[in-house]
Amino acid sequence: MDLFEKIKANRGPIGMHAKESHGYFTFPKLEGDVKPRMGFRGKERLNWSLNNYLGLANHPEVRKADADAAAQYGFALPMGARMMSGNSDAHEQLEAELSAFVNKQETILCNFGYQAIVSAIDCLVGRHDVIVYDAESHACILDGVRLHMGKRYVFKHNDVEDCEKQLERATKLAEAQGGCILVITEGVFGMSGRQGKLKEIIELKKKFNFRLFVDDAHGVGTMGATGGGTGQEQGCQDGIDIYFGTFAKSFALIGGFISSESDIVEYLRYNMRSQIFAKSLPIALVKGALKRIELMRNHPEYRENLWKITNALQDGLKKAGFEIGLTNSPVTPVLMNGSIPEATNLIVDLRENYNIFCSMVVYPVVPKGVIILRLIPTAVHTMEDVNYTIDCFSKIVGKLKSGHYMSEKIAAH
Ligand SMILES: Cc1ncc(COP(=O)(O)O)c(C=O)c1O
Repeated sequence: MDLFEKIKANRGPIGMHAKESHGYFTFPKLEGDVKPRMGFRGKERLNWSLNNYLGLANHPEVRKADADAAAQYGFALPMGARMMSGNSDAHEQLEAELSAFVNKQETILCNFGYQAIVSAIDCLVGRHDVIVYDAESHACILDGVRLHMGKRYVFKHNDVEDCEKQLERATKLAEAQGGCILVITEGVFGMSGRQGKLKEIIELKKKFNFRLFVDDAHGVGTMGATGGGTGQEQGCQDGIDIYFGTFAKSFALIGGFISSESDIVEYLRYNMRSQIFAKSLPIALVKGALKRIELMRNHPEYRENLWKITNALQDGLKKAGFEIGLTNSPVTPVLMNGSIPEATNLIVDLRENYNIFCSMVVYPVVPKGVIILRLIPTAVHTMEDVNYTIDCFSKIVGKLKSGHYMSEKIAAH
């Protein structure tokens, strides 16, 4: 069979809907600056779909720092990978500041968060080592695990008992073949908003010999007394052996970092293929990240405001009778019941008639019949935004329950 023919016959679980969804449900084009009110198809909408947690994306000092750095350095500098010709004082300064921010000895900057995780997993374990990981891990963790040539055991999502069971199996195997164990989980799971059970997993170190790798993409900057992440929030940052943060969310930038003991970070610097064989982050971005971390350090009120909005949104939704699962982070999933056609009609109604833009999650990401509207509060949303949204959600869920979205195809595009 011809490869292209095969691909044309099977576009993948999301791609198969591309014709109807492209430009509206998928690949929508948001217009204007990154803030709670952005354009969509020429009209202003209240936006709850961006991980701009601390509101830094459009902060005047951030915009100025980015513009100044771009004017001074351009985006080419430095050319090459860090190891060969792409290092700079700015990169090293940012690494030092990030280490202090997440309370680890040392940090390596990475050009993309996703690649960083895939490549770090690949680099840390060998064929005799065993990986134990959470079943609902992000795609980048799953891809990293796929690269692993040794054995892996998956534990039920956030289930510490099952994690222990898998650690027992992993320990037997690792001992038999002279390998080590790496446990991987997340600080905050991006779909459900649940924090990973880091403290409980770290407790298991008393019984088992393993190292813990935590993807804290959603936790860095948002969780903990100073934004140091979910380990800080749970009082167990020291028990996280390898800590990952991305710049793609609360930092409102691009890139990522891994922090750990100095020896381990040095090992990563000299062995992580995605960083050795790829261009380093432009200095302009690094300078932008330095400005962001300065603002995070000096303005705890951004995080406090994020939590004020988060708590108002989550409490208000619950009071209005909504099911928001087990979130204990800003990520706010609103669960409803309905078919995929109902979900698409509902989203169109929400966008076109209530001017609210949020992401929708349906089967196959969640079970059939479940619709999740995922809201990401930020420090720059207002209480009016919260109250308006809860009010509109009450209206649309009333329509959903009455069968309104079943009966007609709401056309908007
Ligand atoms: C949990 C998690 N890990 C890793 C990543 C990848 O990070 P990046 O966008 O920096 O590549 C994401 C998404 O951005 C994420 O949500």
